[in-house]
Amino acid sequence: MDSNNTVSALSEIPDVSNANKKLESRKSGQPSFRVAIFSLGDSLCHALAISMVVYFFWDCLNQSISSLTGWHASLFTLAYVFFMTEGLLIFLPHSVISRGWGHKHLIKLHWILELLGFIFLASGMTIIIVSKNQSNRRHFVSSHAITGLAAVILAVLVSLFGWWTRLDRQVPFIVFLGHSLKYHLGLKMSHLKLVHSALGVGSYGVGMAAQILGYFTHYYMNKHDAEWRVFLSVMTALLSLVAFLFASTSLYKRTRELLRK
Ligand code: HEM
Repeated sequence: MDSNNTVSALSEIPDVSNANKKLESRKSGQPSFRVAIFSLGDSLCHALAISMVVYFFWDCLNQSISSLTGWHASLFTLAYVFFMTEGLLIFLPHSVISRGWGHKHLIKLHWILELLGFIFLASGMTIIIVSKNQSNRRHFVSSHAITGLAAVILAVLVSLFGWWTRLDRQVPFIVFLGHSLKYHLGLKMSHLKLVHSALGVGSYGVGMAAQILGYFTHYYMNKHDAEWRVFLSVMTALLSLVAFLFASTSLYKRTRELLRK
């Protein structure tokens, strides 16, 4: 088969032709009004995410450097508001960071961002558990703590399914285990990807809800007035809405494609 035939044969495969269409739309970069508005919205999201992380670390270093809860809040903000949000925003067709990137590079950047997010998530979780143990307080009682725990559990599941979809890149024992499990459960790669996306959307939504509930804990209410906490909640909700709506739309498209097959 010559190269032209190979390309046309590949584009018959739905996944490949979709990826090609997305890449073309990313590469086109035509200076239309719509592209300009989307790019502006995307830039504002990056600026907002960075500002929130800088603010939380500044607040922690300025007022409560020895407070473990201050570090918990900063690390979770870095994990969810920055890394997890960026991990979703890079897939936006008009992303100012990854416009023109191929699918392979996007996936690589996605898992690097999500892995870093996961490391800070684990650190934030360890710190708050140590802090509560030190002061003999009961665990997972408040609505913030319960939502936060649910977000962390979901994030672990998202990572597991993410690694499961990348079986070709693992050590032989894990490859064997992953393939046998997939075979015995009768799962296809498209099922694993769908579960990864669905859990990802869920984990992100629950995590951002925990972030907002964090602004209404006694610790934070003693530190900042109501107006500031409401302002932070609105900013967090706006940022998460962009990433959440985009991720839900692509999850909907993925589900529709799977049901059509
Ligand atoms: C996505 C972001 C966040 C997640 C997933 C999260 C998760 C958690 C979890 C699981 C606990 C319970 C630990 C335990 O009971 O042993 C907790 C406690 C706590 N978090 Fe967060 N947190 C987040 C962000 C924040 C933020 C932004 C603040 C403050 C502004 C904050 C303040 C607190 C405080 C004061 C506690 C101790 C009181 C309580 O248990 O409710 N958290 N967090």
